[in-house]
Amino acid sequence: MEKVSIKDLYHDLENYIDKTVEVSGWIKTLRDSKTFGFIELNDGSFFNNLQIVFNDSLNNFNEICKLTISSSIIVTGKVIKTEGTKQPFEIHADNVEIFNLSDADYPLQKKRHSFEYLRTVAHLRPRTNTFNAIFKIRSVAAFAIHEYFQSNGYVYVNTPIITCADCEGSAEMFKLTTLDLDKPLPQKDGKTDFSNDLFGKKAYITGSGQLHGETFAQAFGKIYTFGPTLRSENSNTKTHANEFWMIEPEIAFCDLEELMNIEEDCLKYIVRKVLERCPEEIAFCDKFIENGLIEKLTKLINSNFTKIDHKEVIDILKKADRKWEFEPEYGEDLAKEHEKYITEYFNGPVFVKNWPKDIKSYYMKVNSDGKTVAAVDLEVPGAGEIMGGSQREENYDRLFARMKEMNIETEPLYWYLDLRRYGSVIHSGFGLGFERLLMYITGMENIRDVIPYPRTPNNCDF
Ligand code: 4AD
Ligand code: MG
Repeated sequence: MEKVSIKDLYHDLENYIDKTVEVSGWIKTLRDSKTFGFIELNDGSFFNNLQIVFNDSLNNFNEICKLTISSSIIVTGKVIKTEGTKQPFEIHADNVEIFNLSDADYPLQKKRHSFEYLRTVAHLRPRTNTFNAIFKIRSVAAFAIHEYFQSNGYVYVNTPIITCADCEGSAEMFKLTTLDLDKPLPQKDGKTDFSNDLFGKKAYITGSGQLHGETFAQAFGKIYTFGPTLRSENSNTKTHANEFWMIEPEIAFCDLEELMNIEEDCLKYIVRKVLERCPEEIAFCDKFIENGLIEKLTKLINSNFTKIDHKEVIDILKKADRKWEFEPEYGEDLAKEHEKYITEYFNGPVFVKNWPKDIKSYYMKVNSDGKTVAAVDLEVPGAGEIMGGSQREENYDRLFARMKEMNIETEPLYWYLDLRRYGSVIHSGFGLGFERLLMYITGMENIRDVIPYPRTPNNCDF
């Protein structure tokens, strides 16, 4: 007996018509009358269900009729082509083996549940249509990202999860220690003494792989990372998580202008591949999550992204005929409401570049005006900032001075500074927040609903 997946059947139907096959999966719905019944079965391989028809010629007919939602079964039967029905084919069961009868209190009965409720049953939510679509898209998008970089000559680098290097600010990094936290901590000069800790110094969990990525970019030319990233910020918003996945490409001999072109090309590639490879899932998201999603994504592929200086963004915001919760200011960061306004103003993704240097990181190249840095954020409607990148300071003295100015300890980062001594080059890179990207692609409004087990303030369940 050939074991097949529901996807096999949908994709290669002609090959299976009138053949007897074995399928296994979980019951989505069951309807029965006195002598026959219908089961909608799903095995996770495909978005659509498989219809199983069974009748009272089966010796366990009565037991089958009593099957609950989410019970697991193994069915053998003939594949029959159907005309004029919702599904193009069905299986007429010769045998239905009951693997496990699901308890009747299964929390996902056949009705629409709120996303908030589904977060409380995160171990079961992948079984719903919505999360089946979301996590399938997540998987396909991850593959497309690797594909994009690999096919363009980038080398994939696994940067360390445990680090002592400060990239985006040590205040936002989780500390990692083996010291016994139930005992008073050893002290030296009024601070915790980590010299007897496992690494002999204060260690963190990474908040960015960029610095290590730069070292590899100066060996391979073009590299990318793709891994978990942790930040301890106490931000309870729809777009922040304490654990998220980030893709960080780093490119030697590349300036800010070229970097933006790569970002645009990369984003369009990922979106195009998801549209091609997840038609059912995207159609579902368009219908139930964000109306007009397909149009939005198609438009993105065919558009040229807006590129605008931070200063000009503030000009536009200041001219806007509306009240702000946070008044837009030159020299300051953009608030959520500003990001929203500007993406709606340009009706699509916007590169905001040349940011005030005081609110950005030490490694960014200071522009000739002495006030701004060659940094760029890509803002999109809904998810806000999905990419953040910059041209890096490639000059040793200027980088050293900048670190001192911004109170970054230079000694532990001697190896990072070394890059500026041994064949330094103009180079740039960016970080793509994977969950923010998924929010944009699926239309999901909360980051908690695009990552399998969200970690956010006061939430480390499951
Ligand atoms: O802007 P960020 O902090 O930049 C960096 O980490 C640089 N080292 C990247 C680089 O140049 N190599 O973060 C990059 C992106 C953001 O644009 C956002 O999409 C995402 O990471 N991100 C978060 N996503 C979810 N939750 C959070 N708390 C995030 N913080 C940043
Ligand atoms: Mg940023």
